[in-house]
Amino acid sequence: MSDRAPVTSPSDPVDDARTGRPDRNLALELVRATEAAAIRAVPYIGKGDKIAVDGAAVDAMRAFLSTVSFDGVVVIGEGEKDDAPMLFNGEHVGNGQGPACDVAVDPVDGTSMAAAGRQNALSVIAVADRGAMLDASSVFYMDKLVTGPEGRGVVDIRKPVGENIRALAAALDKRPEEIVVAILDRPRHEELVRQIREAGAGTRLLLDGDVAGGINAARGGTRIDMCVGIGGSPEGVTTACAVKALGGFMQGVLAPKDDAERERGLAAGLTMDHVYEVDDLVAGEHSFFVATGVTDGGLLDGVRHIDGIIRTESIVLRSASGTVRRIVAEHQASKWL
Ligand code: FBP
Repeated sequence: MSDRAPVTSPSDPVDDARTGRPDRNLALELVRATEAAAIRAVPYIGKGDKIAVDGAAVDAMRAFLSTVSFDGVVVIGEGEKDDAPMLFNGEHVGNGQGPACDVAVDPVDGTSMAAAGRQNALSVIAVADRGAMLDASSVFYMDKLVTGPEGRGVVDIRKPVGENIRALAAALDKRPEEIVVAILDRPRHEELVRQIREAGAGTRLLLDGDVAGGINAARGGTRIDMCVGIGGSPEGVTTACAVKALGGFMQGVLAPKDDAERERGLAAGLTMDHVYEVDDLVAGEHSFFVATGVTDGGLLDGVRHIDGIIRTESIVLRSASGTVRRIVAEHQASKWL
């Protein structure tokens, strides 16, 4: 009988501890699924049909996920907003062999942007240990605050945004006027935007896609220092997987639209008016995040098709090591006909 313990985590730490071999980076396999989703979405970019964008990406992502050795359950899936046929919450993905994982998918974050031919659409998958991801699906929106590691112990979602801007500026040795805050461009954020500007900071108004906004806030070397405001709860949990790998800071507070949604959330075991820290949004040490650019954006280039080559750019993050990989792949277009 083998003395090896069963493999239970996505990066196989048991195997690592016993054999001294480097553990597995599941995201390096999952990136094929986001690449495929991004490539298949391309014919629908700018054609005005967001259902077609999403449908093509979902089909491709699901097909590639089925080849990956893991036992995944979709915790954050395609919701009612996208009206998508597959990759729904509770669906099993992967080939059923290997580590038991929670999976968050967003075949295209920014379907409307991609359908309109706008920038910043991404294809995203996040994976963590089974049971690690907060299932916030009963409450659609979440108020979020994301910064780089310098924000830890410095900013707090309960404080006014102006105070957080001044505190983060001091921690970054900048003036508040140099701070740039990403926020979804929505009527609900008018007052927040006013307060950000009153504090002297600048805004980057996002048409859509606060996952990319959050990642840019969490990692160094970008023009974004902070991402705030109300966006999707699923995107909040997905973003948390990336923030965790990047060592950044994140908090989220559920923002139910009405009493009925609040009641549904409470019945599902969620806590309203509670500050979810990054470890509450995704627990454990083994989370992975992978994204491929669908259209060009500040985080990643979109899919390019030149001279028979389809070029994709992806980012691959793994929390256990904190490694950030950028993967540029050249695919033979003839094989994707
Ligand atoms: P979809 O691509 O699923 O439509 O999500 C885009 C997005 O902008 C998310 O990034 C964001 O969290 C959410 O929608 C915001 O929701 P809303 O458009 O209702 O303000």
